[in-house]
Amino acid sequence: MADMQSWGVLFTVYLASALVVHADIKIYTRVGQFFVYELQREVFQSDFEPFLIHYGHVYDDPMVFKCNKQNFPDLPRWLRYTQRHPLDNGFLYGTPLQEDQGKTVIEVTVINKRSYDAFRERLVITVGTQGKRMPYQVEFFLPLREIEKVLPSAVQQEIKLDIQRMWGTERLDFVNISSALDRGGRVPLPLPGHYEGVYVKMGSDQYFSECLLRLLSPQHQQECKAAGKASGDCSICVNPANCMAWCNATLIDLSKPVPPTLAPTRGSGILEGQSFYDPPESPPSREFFLDYIGTVIIPFVLALILCIILAYVMCCRREGVIQLYHHRTIQGNADELRTMAGGRAVPRPLSTLPMFNMRTGERMPPLQRHSDSSHIPLIMAQHDPNTDTLPR
Ligand SMILES: *[C@@H]1O[C@H](CO)[C@@H](O)[C@H](O)[C@H]1NC(C)=O
Ligand SMILES: *[C@@H]1O[C@H](CO)[C@@H](O)[C@H](O)[C@H]1NC(C)=O
Repeated sequence: MADMQSWGVLFTVYLASALVVHADIKIYTRVGQFFVYELQREVFQSDFEPFLIHYGHVYDDPMVFKCNKQNFPDLPRWLRYTQRHPLDNGFLYGTPLQEDQGKTVIEVTVINKRSYDAFRERLVITVGTQGKRMPYQVEFFLPLREIEKVLPSAVQQEIKLDIQRMWGTERLDFVNISSALDRGGRVPLPLPGHYEGVYVKMGSDQYFSECLLRLLSPQHQQECKAAGKASGDCSICVNPANCMAWCNATLIDLSKPVPPTLAPTRGSGILEGQSFYDPPESPPSREFFLDYIGTVIIPFVLALILCIILAYVMCCRREGVIQLYHHRTIQGNADELRTMAGGRAVPRPLSTLPMFNMRTGERMPPLQRHSDSSHIPLIMAQHDPNTDTLPR
């Protein structure tokens, strides 16, 4: 009976969690303010296995996230997504601009890389009006960081505290955090000690401190150009990983009114309003006869002349005619001598006879092939009468 009851409870729990409707995640941010949303694997893990979670089993599954704006293939321009590894959390981050105001629905597809389950979550990001005005901004380059390591709020806090001490104010906010790879940086070697680098931009309504103003001095710029290092480095990093490259820091002063851009000076090609466009005449026709003679007729005539000269030399002025005559007379004489020699009744020289031994002058009788082929020794050399028999 108790068993039945516990199964009933289990079933109800399972049903309840399976029927949980995934409510949209609502987030609010403002124009000009840095936005981060961490896609936490732990949270999605319980959505994959609600039944097991209740009974103390906790998996740690690798997961990947696919993010896109609803009904679009990609994210809005101001928003970026990053995840280093399926066993790490993912991050959506970026700074919305004036034109990004309003509501954006982001679809996040969560894929469990162990079970290959997937589900979709909706993220509604509302971008409100311009946040705090931050006319004074500084951008730092952190060469020993990667974007995923800077986005967690604890690390952001560390960096903020360092900069607060340099700036001497607590009224600081992040304006932008971006990977150096998004700004033309190179992918580092996959070795320890090589990082992509991160740009961190902070803003405040308080004017720059003396320390930060050193970045503007001509001496600083000279030293950085010459040695890549400046003597006036007053940067602070409690955590060595957050140290900034002093030469790559820049001050941005947005407090001065932007000078209005000059109206473009008008060139001569602009039409008066509404007038009729009259296309220019087509260019005057050109005489191509001389070009034709120069490029076709003259080479053709030259080739023809060369052909004729060559034909004349080959057929009518052959140097070889006399040699041919000589050759023919020599051939005739040789033939005459040969017939005369054939006519003499003299035995042929021994050396022209077959099977003649040069040393002994002996002649071999021709083999009697037809009489008794069974007695022909297979290996002639063993009884060769031409060779001297060796003494035993
Ligand atoms: C933040 O940084 C990224 C990457 O460099 C850049 O594309 C974007 O325009 C920046 N946003 C703001 C508001 O400065
Ligand atoms: C940092 O500054 C140095 C010297 O000014 C420059 O050569 C280098 O390219 C900069 N690096 C980055 C990543 O901006």
